Amino acid sequence: MLDIISFIQTIGYVGIFLVVFVESGVIFGFFFPGDSLLFTAGFLASQGLMNIWVLICGTVVAAVLGVSVGYAFGLKVGPMIFKKEDSLFFHKDNLEHTKHFYDKYGKKAIILARFMPGVRTFAPILAGVGKMDYRSFISYNIIGGLLWGAGLPLAGYYLGNSIPNVDKYLLPIVLLIIFLSVLPTVVHILSEKQSRDKIRNFAKQIMDKRVKLLAFNWKMNPETLDEALKLAKNSDFKNAVVIPPFIFIEEVSKILKNARLGAQNVSGKNSAGGAMTGEISAAELVNLGVKYVIVGHSERRAMGETDELISQKLQNVLDNNLIPIFCVGESYGERKVGKEKDVVERQIHSALSILKLSAKNNQLIIAYEPVWAIGTGNNCSPEDALKMIKFIKNILNSTLSISNVRVLYGGSVNPQNIKDFLKYKEIDGVLVGGASLKPEGFYDII
Ligand code: PGA
Repeated sequence: MLDIISFIQTIGYVGIFLVVFVESGVIFGFFFPGDSLLFTAGFLASQGLMNIWVLICGTVVAAVLGVSVGYAFGLKVGPMIFKKEDSLFFHKDNLEHTKHFYDKYGKKAIILARFMPGVRTFAPILAGVGKMDYRSFISYNIIGGLLWGAGLPLAGYYLGNSIPNVDKYLLPIVLLIIFLSVLPTVVHILSEKQSRDKIRNFAKQIMDKRVKLLAFNWKMNPETLDEALKLAKNSDFKNAVVIPPFIFIEEVSKILKNARLGAQNVSGKNSAGGAMTGEISAAELVNLGVKYVIVGHSERRAMGETDELISQKLQNVLDNNLIPIFCVGESYGERKVGKEKDVVERQIHSALSILKLSAKNNQLIIAYEPVWAIGTGNNCSPEDALKMIKFIKNILNSTLSISNVRVLYGGSVNPQNIKDFLKYKEIDGVLVGGASLKPEGFYDII
């Protein structure tokens, strides 16, 4: 609170008018605290620290001018603006929200948008893009400027004068003003299904990133459905992905309440109803409720899967909105001669460089699984795993321009050593084989 007051005192009248001018139609989507700023300035005026009339007159003029500049800009750039890429000051979403706002309120939007941060900056620009008749534009602009530019300082001024010891309550009052000023924007955004979906997906992505993943690869186990169901019940942790053999997937999916479902393999071909004896398609997995698929596991590479086939499988998985857990890792011999980074880099490049990843790269998960550590009880040291995972993230970022990929470690992870891996923020989870058949051991860790 005191910060806003000292901020206002530092920037003075000129600063306030400049903020109002800029926020009114010049800098796209930039979130200046216009409402709380004016309210607090009005309050300062009530305490004799500013002149209310100078404040109001200057604010109204700056607001009307800012909006006019936005309008002129909109006239000049026209519909081209919808093609502009997102940047720090420009968010297409804000532009789209403002457009819907116009569709809903027509010309009155110029007045209403005044009271909605975020939409405020775009309203005059869109009025220009839509070539709104200048006379009606200027009248709505002046009415909006007067209501907002005079209303907010006067509200602060009035409160300052009418409530004894108001300075004690100023913090909650300004917080309330900030809350009320963003409320209409928030309500407007939430009223659209598309925006709600975007927010939900975004939140889900953040949650997914923060939570360390525990992928349980059962491999060719167990032998009976009863055992599989028991295992599923005991593995049903919130951050787990349970990956049974194909034959158990459907029944396991009925047991899981918290964990998500994965598959150990998928066909590289995507032919619906195709002649592919023994293969399982990505579409079939989707219909069973599968979300994750292991691709390129070293045990399958050893059975003859090539980089090319692995790449086809990855594309297929992504095209069906499944999340691949793409395994890479060197053999013992390769590590012994110091070639581990070269091998992993080659595996990543040969599989990913031909993929069309752009829109879906957030989905990708990589598991670093040194072959010599799988099923041997001889895990890679957490420090070496960390080094490799940082290296992988670096390759993805610098040479393939893919960011935000989660990278797991796999290879003899068990309840005793899991924490040594998960303590590093760069290690986003683990892929567990043998130890996943005794999930009870992970209870008190998760
Ligand atoms: P492991 O297997 O935990 O038994 O070493 C890991 C894996 O194959 O993914």
